[in-house]
Amino acid sequence: SRSIVILISGRGSNMRSLVEANLPDCRIAVISNRPDAAGLAYARERGLATAVVDHRAHATRPAFDAALAEAIDAHGADLVVLAGFMRILGVDFVARYQGRLLNIHPSLLPAFPGTHTHAQALAAGVRIHGCTVHFVTPALDSGPIVIQAAVPVLPDDDPDTLAARVLAQEHVIYPQAVRWFLAGQLQLTAAGQVRLSAGAGRAATA
Ligand code: GAR
Repeated sequence: SRSIVILISGRGSNMRSLVEANLPDCRIAVISNRPDAAGLAYARERGLATAVVDHRAHATRPAFDAALAEAIDAHGADLVVLAGFMRILGVDFVARYQGRLLNIHPSLLPAFPGTHTHAQALAAGVRIHGCTVHFVTPALDSGPIVIQAAVPVLPDDDPDTLAARVLAQEHVIYPQAVRWFLAGQLQLTAAGQVRLSAGAGRAATA
């Protein structure tokens, strides 16, 4: 069976959507950089392996990244999934997991990288917003795009109502991307491009 390690920092609803997707033939472990992450309680309840690598216990980013890599490698991870993981990872860490490190970001990249993406979208006045699953590269929120889902921005939206509409789509596209990866239908080429094989229908999200 394959090993998936999901990294979280908080609520963990994307982690939960992956767990509940019943991905075929895989073991899931959950690692949080915050001991009090709400998602950890859910993971423990489900009987998943969990670990905490607290960034505050490490003086430097390289030290934190190394401790995180050690915790990940203890599970022999085939795939590492960032799911609301709110730490920036260094070049060496990213290189170590090249081609098997995915992130989900709550905007239609390349629009609105960084934080507060829903407020950014409202301030920009866009009519369409959404979410993006991408392979992680050293540059923040700019790795090769795997799948996106779009939602309308409605006249009365505030950041919370918009976030909820986007989050529902996150819970659709992240399991889809991970299914493709596990089926060998999704790869990052040596040239740094996404290869999605013919069998993997790209449409149909909402
Ligand atoms: C999600 O909206 C995810 O896309 C976003 O944080 C939220 C985590 O929710 N991630 C980022 O902003 C990454 N920079 P969750 O903990 O319920 O999955």
